[in-house]
Amino acid sequence: MNDDKKFSHAWTLLVCSVSFRHSSGYKVPSIYVFGDSIFDAGNNHYNKFCGAQADFPPYGSSFFHHPTGRFTNGRTVADFLSQFIGLPLQKPFLEAQLELINGTRKNYPPNGINFASAGSGVLPATNQDLNVTTLQTQLGQFISLIEQNHLDSKLVQQSLFFLESGSNDIFSYFYPFDAPTLTPDAYVQEMLKQVHDFVDQIYKLGARKIALFSLGPVGCVPARAILPGAPTDKCYGKMNKMVKNFNMGLENLVNVIPTKYPGAIAVYGAVYKTVQLFRANPSLYGFNDVTNACCGYGTLGGLIQCGKEGYTVCSKPDRHLFWDYFHPSEHTYKLISKALWNGGRTRIRPINLKTLANVTLIP
Ligand SMILES: *[C@@H]1O[C@H](CO)[C@@H](O)[C@H](O)[C@H]1NC(C)=O
Ligand SMILES: *[C@@H]1O[C@H](CO)[C@@H](O)[C@H](O)[C@H]1NC(C)=O
Ligand SMILES: *[C@@H]1O[C@H](CO)[C@@H](O)[C@H](O)[C@H]1NC(C)=O
Repeated sequence: MNDDKKFSHAWTLLVCSVSFRHSSGYKVPSIYVFGDSIFDAGNNHYNKFCGAQADFPPYGSSFFHHPTGRFTNGRTVADFLSQFIGLPLQKPFLEAQLELINGTRKNYPPNGINFASAGSGVLPATNQDLNVTTLQTQLGQFISLIEQNHLDSKLVQQSLFFLESGSNDIFSYFYPFDAPTLTPDAYVQEMLKQVHDFVDQIYKLGARKIALFSLGPVGCVPARAILPGAPTDKCYGKMNKMVKNFNMGLENLVNVIPTKYPGAIAVYGAVYKTVQLFRANPSLYGFNDVTNACCGYGTLGGLIQCGKEGYTVCSKPDRHLFWDYFHPSEHTYKLISKALWNGGRTRIRPINLKTLANVTLIP
């Protein structure tokens, strides 16, 4: 799987030419973020019809000190990576759009935009009853900005594109009330087809620096306690098997991007492996609980959402791997972000984000 030679030709596409530098110090003017709650910076909050929300206390309590719509106690992975690059945090697309409509802003922000919507998957049908913004609609929002000339195409080429999505598709596969019609393998192939289409489209729109992040061990989330048949004394193996299958397909996609899409460079963030290391040696990473949600209720703290009636919250959220029933704590996100930023090939490959951020591509 980790074949250094396969990637060497990607480097022949790169030049160390003299280029303009951005105030960040890296050659990245902006970041475009797509995906689910791992990245959502508040889009769902601006979508009043959406049933997947985290815009109430105690979400945001450890860092922003107020709810922002993010599904954790502080910053997400997208936020940390933006900070490492030296860019202001990307605004939710729906917030920026409202500001343009009501006249409080003239242009879309130059540092990029966050399109992610909590609850969404790579499959359009996932959580549609919650009115989440599908990956395909997120892409449509980006396309509309390009078509209306809101974004500078030269800057888009130098920008980073982040995608993290698929956990909700796989978790939904195990819901007892909508029995799946596809086998686990066929379902994962459908998912990968959507990711492939997504990459195809963003490439056509000018994306050249693409980061695809693997799913974490979704079968270990405290919310598995709501699924009949899921073990609560260990992770849900059947679910993690699907996740690993998806991740493998995702990495295969990353590996073919440089040849299939000339001029593009892609990286695969090995989030699954990274989180398993935290779980295997919690104290080394500052955790004292890698099993239960800090904020929630019932078995594993996974039976209700944090902030909903009856919840309790732990005193040290950042000693927990999980903040709520589905989502990591800010501390977990920070560790993952550091691994993706300057980690070695076991964390992100063929190059890390710090290297990718300083790469100049031939236009
Ligand atoms: C989804 O949106 C429709 C209106 O478009 C609304 O009737 C419905 O209640 C919404 N669902 C949720 C879960 O909020
Ligand atoms: C414009 O919209 C933004 C985002 O919803 C909001 O924060 C701001 O208060 C609005 N301003 C006006 C003048 O309506
Ligand atoms: C980026 O690369 C240049 C050489 O091309 C180097 O001088 C500079 O220090 C690098 N910047 C960062 C922030 O790594």
